[in-house]
Amino acid sequence: MIGIFDSGIGGLTVVRAIMDVLPEYDIVYFGDTARTPYGNKSGRTVVEYSLQNTKFLESRGAKIIVMACNTASSVATEAVQSRFDMPVYEVISPAVDLALEKSRKNIIGVIGTRATIESNIYERKIRRRRPDAKIYSAACPILVPLVEEGWISKPETRMIVKKYLHPLKVRQIDTLILGCTHYPVLKNVISQKIGKKVRIIDSSTALAGQIKQFLADFPDVEAGLSKNGQSEFYVSDVTPQFEKTAGMVIKHNIKLIPVDL
Ligand code: DGL
Repeated sequence: MIGIFDSGIGGLTVVRAIMDVLPEYDIVYFGDTARTPYGNKSGRTVVEYSLQNTKFLESRGAKIIVMACNTASSVATEAVQSRFDMPVYEVISPAVDLALEKSRKNIIGVIGTRATIESNIYERKIRRRRPDAKIYSAACPILVPLVEEGWISKPETRMIVKKYLHPLKVRQIDTLILGCTHYPVLKNVISQKIGKKVRIIDSSTALAGQIKQFLADFPDVEAGLSKNGQSEFYVSDVTPQFEKTAGMVIKHNIKLIPVDL
């Protein structure tokens, strides 16, 4: 199974992308809905949660882990990779790869949770590859709860998105990285507010492509994955609201299974 986790709904955008390119592979998802959001928590706490989430997915039969959360990817990748003996994917590198491929002027905006932006991980990874790039970042902490509430195109959401993006818009960025897996749900509003000419980078599709390539390159790992086209969705807390928004993101109804870690 491919094991995928996030603090809540955001990782479902990654599940959707993986299902689109690898429909036959079984997926086990864990959304840590009881402890969401991760973006306002300390690095230490997010590392601890990420290790617990991975252990749970391993116990459900995961043979590959996808940390479908930028916050966890920015602070916990090394900890998870060093403690589990299986391939561990994070969402930041694929977004950086795609942004560098698409950007023409090398003026790149990054939006994410407070923890992701404060970690400076995007800036460091981009600079390592393109030292002359101009990078402008903005933490957008209110967007995660808006997505979790399903407030996708309400006037209030549009107004908040506009306010968050204003400092990046005046810098005339040509590429904007959605540095949080919740944000693809708001892609239309984000694109309208930042301007249609700005390329929007959603790491989920890039990541799904990289996993497909990895499985082609490593047949031993590929052979260990079950392929019945089935998915299981576990959460640490179930609410009717979460169920409704989850169905909207994944584009079909899903059964959420509550679990205590
Ligand atoms: N979707 C997550 C991310 O990519 C986490 C959001 C949160 O829990 O704050 O960062």
